[in-house]
Amino acid sequence: MKRPTDAEVRRTYLHGPEGVRQAGHREYVGGLWDEVGRLQLRFLRGRGLRRDHRLLDVGCGPLRGGVHMIRYLDAERYTGVDKEPDLLRVGAEQELGATLMAVKRPVLLALADFEFDRLPAPPDIAWAHSLFTHLPMEHIRRCLAKLRPVMASGGVLYATFGECDEPKDNPPEPHDHRLFEYTSAEMGDAGRATGWRVEHLGKWGHPRGHRMLRAVPSPQSPVLSGRNRRRAAAPSLTTED
Ligand SMILES: C[S@@+](CC[C@H](N)C(=O)[O-])C[C@H]1O[C@@H](n2cnc3c(N)ncnc32)[C@H](O)[C@@H]1O
Repeated sequence: MKRPTDAEVRRTYLHGPEGVRQAGHREYVGGLWDEVGRLQLRFLRGRGLRRDHRLLDVGCGPLRGGVHMIRYLDAERYTGVDKEPDLLRVGAEQELGATLMAVKRPVLLALADFEFDRLPAPPDIAWAHSLFTHLPMEHIRRCLAKLRPVMASGGVLYATFGECDEPKDNPPEPHDHRLFEYTSAEMGDAGRATGWRVEHLGKWGHPRGHRMLRAVPSPQSPVLSGRNRRRAAAPSLTTED
């Protein structure tokens, strides 16, 4: 069956659990399953990912990149978090499979609002692929603010984003099929305000032209607003077992 164009996807695909049912899990996260899955591990290995690193995959979906990362990493080194429990479930059951689940023991957590205090251990590398391309700036800042304090010493975040030359009016609410774009200055500001030193790496071979950021916790953490500190009260579901 012919894939819908990106424009058709943006117009017709629903956001959230209904959208997962409508599109199927592979299409829900953008299709290009093998190409974009392999690209993620290739990039991370090129940046020094080791088998014994603890990797956090933020917005991991049904493990498009996760299956490759989990195969590569030592057991219990991969944690994937996503707001959609159904994507985690299908990723574990259909994409990874019971054997690799048992051997590699990844932790998969359904987190509604970046409750990173629930991570099993501080990540050496955090990875946010095609997440900020679907979020309003307020959500990106909340993700960065909540991630900063849980990183391992010497930890690093790589995150993709859609780049534009001038600030634009993005949709007011998150949407997994709409494209949110930011200037590199806006992304740098978001990082600085939440305690990160941000480097713009630019193009990295993504077929849709998404750009890459590298961010390390800055030595002096900013004073975070009460809103950033507040823990989300929404219930979450663990699918690690
Ligand atoms: C385009 S998909 C990318 C999935 C995966 N990173 C990949 O490359 O295949 C975006 C993912 O981010 C997840 N997501 C969006 N907002 C989120 C949030 N606030 N917390 C956790 N996951 C989120 C979506 O459910 C979806 O699985």
